[in-house]
Amino acid sequence: MTDILQELERRRSEARLGGGQRRIDAQHGRGKLTARERIELLVDEDSFEEFDMFVAHRSTDFGMEADRPYGDGVVTGWGTINGRMVYVYSQDFTVFGGSLSETHAQKICKIMDMAMQNGAPVIGLNDSGGARIQEGVASLAGYAEVFQRNVMASGVVPQISVIMGPCAGGAVYSPAMTDFIFMVKDTSYMFVTGPDVVKTVTNEVVTAEQLGGAGTHTKKSSVADGAFEDDVEALTEIRRLFDFLPLNNRERAPTRPFFDDPARIEPSLDTLIPDNPNQPYDMKELIAKVADEGDFYEIQKDFAANILIGFIRIEGQTVGVVANQPMVLAGCLDIDSSRKAARFVRFCDAFEIPILTLVDVPGFLPGTSQEYGGVIKHGAKLLFAYGEATVPKVTVITRKAYGGAYDVMSSKHLRGDFNYAWPTAEIAVMGAKGAVEILYRSELGDADKIAARTKDYEDRFANPFVAAEKGFIDEVIQPRSTRRRVARAFASLRGKRLTNPWKKHDNIPL
Ligand code: HXC
Repeated sequence: MTDILQELERRRSEARLGGGQRRIDAQHGRGKLTARERIELLVDEDSFEEFDMFVAHRSTDFGMEADRPYGDGVVTGWGTINGRMVYVYSQDFTVFGGSLSETHAQKICKIMDMAMQNGAPVIGLNDSGGARIQEGVASLAGYAEVFQRNVMASGVVPQISVIMGPCAGGAVYSPAMTDFIFMVKDTSYMFVTGPDVVKTVTNEVVTAEQLGGAGTHTKKSSVADGAFEDDVEALTEIRRLFDFLPLNNRERAPTRPFFDDPARIEPSLDTLIPDNPNQPYDMKELIAKVADEGDFYEIQKDFAANILIGFIRIEGQTVGVVANQPMVLAGCLDIDSSRKAARFVRFCDAFEIPILTLVDVPGFLPGTSQEYGGVIKHGAKLLFAYGEATVPKVTVITRKAYGGAYDVMSSKHLRGDFNYAWPTAEIAVMGAKGAVEILYRSELGDADKIAARTKDYEDRFANPFVAAEKGFIDEVIQPRSTRRRVARAFASLRGKRLTNPWKKHDNIPL
């Protein structure tokens, strides 16, 4: 009996060694942790239960039958993060470069199926040379099995991808279909075709880092939602994000203990808006002052910074925030910011996370590059996302809410539940200067007349009261009491029930 028990331990030790000590050392030498070390940091201590530790590939081509390491290049299983269940797969670069074989894919599919069945998120730690070259189409089939599950799981359980090494070719499409992608700076990259193919086809010379490093994907392409300095920071931050999210689409996000008075008054907000309406201010200050303990988990902070998205808690409950940022492009909406916010609104709606929208928007960014780039369709994404969302929606207009952008930003007309405005709000078709130039074109040579017209327009329209008279604004509130009003609004909406008409699915402009 002792022999049998020892044999189990011997096999386990062998499996834990992956591709061997030499390759583990090489992995460490690159500043990367191993697949198992990563899982240890991601989940609670001693909570990880591994599946399929002894699975080995079945390939016999290219002499593969002589090399059948346990685990086949991926560690899979479940554990807990702060006590809540999560399924994890972690690709092991020390085994055939973490490449995906038929059996490797089957291991991932097994935990994805269990995650769906049991209603828990999936976190994938990606570090792979792509399709297992020796296996050919069996590997491609394996990828497609994973892709299909990504699609089915979308909107059912949260899916998070962390790119911690190579992720190339078709392999990028599994992360691309998950809810969030995070990368590790300098050690990870993602691209559909690598630098060599790019050189051959387009004659462009780029490094892997330039083509698909963390900087590229967080600042240029917006493929990634954030980048971290190293593996440890990445895994710690994923744990923090996880705490904001529900386990599945049938459960609410967890309520965390909070040590911040929901009725906290912030007199400093009364002077947040500068006297000059064209002067910017930092919308993050308002977010921090509304949030429990000032904690804001920002998503995509390096892309389309004219809109801010991320999670806060109010009375311990998760709230998704979408906010125009006057510090960048005056907070206008454009292609990138519309896409960024639309996807976030849809994530929140899919997982029953209430949405707080903070509005200071002078309109859509004009220009040929925007029109040629399809701002009509991209702007419509955000409009559509807000319009279809049935979660509690609370909106606060701090300053400008002009034109179509007023409608888009969770207005009353898109089923906003509470639409508040500060006394400094200006809700109009456009700013006074632009309006007067159009309405009184013939008087443009007379500065006094134009000044009088502008003043008249400002007095009549550059305020929240015209909208409030019509009931489009539920209440004009004191800036200092924003946290209290917003907290009470969300508290009153906890029982909200709203459903859209039956349909197979909608046809959001893509
Ligand atoms: C089998 C692979 C492999 C692969 C790497 N290895 N990629 N084995 N299939 N795809 C093995 C290597 O043979 C090596 O084994 C070990 O992993 C480490 O690889 P190195 O090349 O030594 O490491 P490094 O120098 O860091 O380079 C990593 C790499 C490179 C950039 C990922 O290995 C590489 O370019 N691999 C091929 C990438 C690729 O073209 N994949 C297919 C993409 S197409 P030993 O025994 O020496 O340790 C694709 C289609 C998916 O994925 C389609 C889905 C629809």
